[in-house]
Amino acid sequence: MLNGMHVYLNGKLVPESQAMVSIDDRGFLFADGVYEVIHVYRQKLFEWNLHLARLGRSLAAIQLPAVDGSELALIAEQLIGELGPEQSEASLYIEVTRGTHRRAHGFPPPGSTPPTILMWVRPVSPISKETVEHGVPVITVPDDRWAKVWVKTIGLLPNVLAKEKAHQNGAFDAIFVRDGIVTEATSANIFMAKDGVLYTAPATNYILSGITRQVVLELAQARNIPVNLTPFSVEQLLTADEVFLTGTLTEVLPIASIDGYPVKSPSGPLALQLLQDLHERAGLHA
Ligand code: PDD
Repeated sequence: MLNGMHVYLNGKLVPESQAMVSIDDRGFLFADGVYEVIHVYRQKLFEWNLHLARLGRSLAAIQLPAVDGSELALIAEQLIGELGPEQSEASLYIEVTRGTHRRAHGFPPPGSTPPTILMWVRPVSPISKETVEHGVPVITVPDDRWAKVWVKTIGLLPNVLAKEKAHQNGAFDAIFVRDGIVTEATSANIFMAKDGVLYTAPATNYILSGITRQVVLELAQARNIPVNLTPFSVEQLLTADEVFLTGTLTEVLPIASIDGYPVKSPSGPLALQLLQDLHERAGLHA
């Protein structure tokens, strides 16, 4: 964190060192909260309205009240304004928990605590050209997450353990597989291309419906690239021409190998085209 940058916590902008949450915060005790991560390109929030809409769906899913989007946008603007001109890329993090109350599983009595609302902006380093050109290795792991993965909850322990397992095996990320079907990565969605057709998992309760996934599908459509949203297996993934991840910070990231098996075209033309289109949509080529 840069010296002098503030974070927003419960109605106030405070220096990061003074931003404290209670030991009784429901996020801390129960992972009882939801979040969003939004890419900031050249001081501008990418697809803010889509992220805000998904935050609204996540809040509703866990019975938390809606947030005021225009208020959050104003705060985000203030936080982004603290970035130095050299920080061309950053991420905005928003977290809302069920507030602070003595530990008990059931919801706190109505009116006893406001939700905890936290926001910060931090610089991110763009993914290097070399990484995109070479692609990254991934492993597959059983998808042992709950059945409401579509809710963007802060309860991410299965994702954390899967990512760590990937690192311990010299891989960049882990791909979740449920009953033989590929769902997504630990913090990104997964696409494959075969014979010019783009495939990604359908937006069921078993994946987090990524904003980048949605944007990439739109970009593909604009280029008349056929898209197939039927579930696919690991075996199909291993025969793909191209495989890539999509996510807010991952953008479009080619995969070079899966469980040690090389992907045919690790940095194939579709992934590179879609990454370029994504950057264009984010105003990077303007
Ligand atoms: N993660 N799937 C999972 C499990 C995710 O956590 C994410 C995003 C995505 C991609 O969604 P989007 O395109 O909207 O970023 C898919 C964020 C970036 C994170 O946890 O840091």
